Amino acid sequence: MKPRRALITGGASGFGLGTVKALLAQGAQVAIADIDGEKLRATADELHSDRVLPLVLDVTSPPSVQQTVAACQTHFGGLDTLVNSAGVIHFGSLAETTEADWDRVIDIDLKGVFLCCQAAAPLLRQSGRRGRIVNIGSDVSKIGFPLIASYCAAKAGVVGLSKALAGELAPEGVTVNCVCPVGVSTTGMGQEVLAYKRQATGATRAAILAATAADIPLGRNPTEDDVVNAIMFFLAEESSFLTGVALDVDGGLLSTSTLPGVADGQ
Ligand SMILES: NC(=O)c1ccc[n+]([C@@H]2O[C@H](COP(=O)([O-])OP(=O)(O)OC[C@H]3O[C@@H](n4cnc5c(N)ncnc54)[C@H](O)[C@@H]3O)[C@@H](O)[C@H]2O)c1
Repeated sequence: MKPRRALITGGASGFGLGTVKALLAQGAQVAIADIDGEKLRATADELHSDRVLPLVLDVTSPPSVQQTVAACQTHFGGLDTLVNSAGVIHFGSLAETTEADWDRVIDIDLKGVFLCCQAAAPLLRQSGRRGRIVNIGSDVSKIGFPLIASYCAAKAGVVGLSKALAGELAPEGVTVNCVCPVGVSTTGMGQEVLAYKRQATGATRAAILAATAADIPLGRNPTEDDVVNAIMFFLAEESSFLTGVALDVDGGLLSTSTLPGVADGQ
């Protein structure tokens, strides 16, 4: 099977970078697009591959997005894969969240996905049945959490957007799916969330991670690889009949419940 030609937003860190590495291992050509130019250069140096195209991208800027997609066309001769992993989070109550805080999260996490899908769609359509979009939702795409309302709204929107685009791009065989992970503490955002929880509760890192693992039916916290594996699953040729799916990567958290007083033997 021909190697993929991929664009990964937020590709200099976390799930994006993990996906870049997994695609490179399969022989793909990969554009790593990220707003953080320094991290991007360091990542490109570390990967040291002529199949890597590092591109500074701001997903909130239509010209920046269009230039990025045009660079993929120039360097790869087309594009069959888009993974939208760029994202930010904001913590604050309803009263504390300013309009600027709200706009920043919605612009990067939701509008950015729309702009990248819109700009890449013509190339993905041309690639026909190889065309793939994977967006990154979250457990908060499906349930609410206090103090991160803008992030919950954006991530719920990402699932709605993905399902709508799945229908629109289906006639050309392009699939659009979402992965919805629970918190992974090792990525840039994961570390930010952990630091916020530590500050809010005074608990240690180990205590917080033990508490989150105890909530997950499979009994452990997720790893970056758990999420990257789910993204790669949607990119596999064998997944060509899956579209509009929002896949929980959560160890069973959202799908199962214990019967109080029974599961623990009381
Ligand atoms: N880590 C988690 O617990 C978790 C859980 C569920 C979903 N997610 C989602 O996974 C995705 C990846 O996050 P991560 O955890 O790997 O964090 P990360 O911080 O390691 O990666 C996010 C990347 O996005 C880039 N970025 C930010 N704003 C950008 C912009 N305007 N344009 C282009 N790039 C930009 C950052 O520079 C960074 O490299 C995000 O969409 C996030 O919301 C993360």
